Amino acid sequence: MCKKVKLTSKRNKVYRLLEDEGNSILKTFIDKEDMKRELSILRLLHGRNCRVPEVLKVTSDSIYLEDLGDETLLDWYESIEKTNADSILPMILKLSDWLEAFYDTLSSSKYGNYIMGDVNFRNFLIKDGEIYGIDFEQCREGKIEEDLGKLAAYSLTYDPMMTDWKKNFVKLLVEQLSMKLDISKDAISSEMDKELIKIRLRRKKK
Ligand SMILES: Nc1ncnc2c1ncn2[C@@H]1O[C@H](COP(=O)(O)OP(=O)(O)O)[C@@H](O)[C@H]1O
Ligand SMILES: [Mg+2]
Repeated sequence: MCKKVKLTSKRNKVYRLLEDEGNSILKTFIDKEDMKRELSILRLLHGRNCRVPEVLKVTSDSIYLEDLGDETLLDWYESIEKTNADSILPMILKLSDWLEAFYDTLSSSKYGNYIMGDVNFRNFLIKDGEIYGIDFEQCREGKIEEDLGKLAAYSLTYDPMMTDWKKNFVKLLVEQLSMKLDISKDAISSEMDKELIKIRLRRKKK
């Protein structure tokens, strides 16, 4: 017997399938080109130093993926700010390592100058203490500092916004990303400022 549980998704239909043989994730795409891009990047990244879910099955409009469990990076982030239960640096290091491996792998493929595009904290999952990346349909050509600036802007603006704790997190995050990916802190901050303006406009419209 198979039970389907709908998951929070921004663009597509994403379900957790609960079956006797184990769980899997079903992602049904609205756009076929997006699906092609995501599948091709998932296959490229598989087995490299940046962890991604395994592709289990593909149909004309859907990808079945390994279920990595429930914990998103946003869950970790929100809980750690509330409880202070864990130190933040190890997770920042893991995120920087994941991104370094991601850009390295893409740069030596046909996706030469591609970046992740959508780096919101729900697009990283944590399983057994390790970071996995998901959701590659928005990957596009761009500058790495665009991703890094967005990561910093999102870090600051999750609810509750701009707390001292979040400002300290972003300081450490930007320092680490800058060192690891060899991109100046100024370049990251400038992209962060651009994204903060966009976020403000988006929220005003709502
Ligand atoms: N392999 C997976 N394992 C566990 N949860 C997943 C997996 N893939 C997606 N999810 C969950 O479903 C949500 C939506 O998936 P995502 O690929 O980001 O779709 P969308 O592009 O529509 O946002 C994710 O934020 C995550 O919570
Ligand atoms: Mg997503």
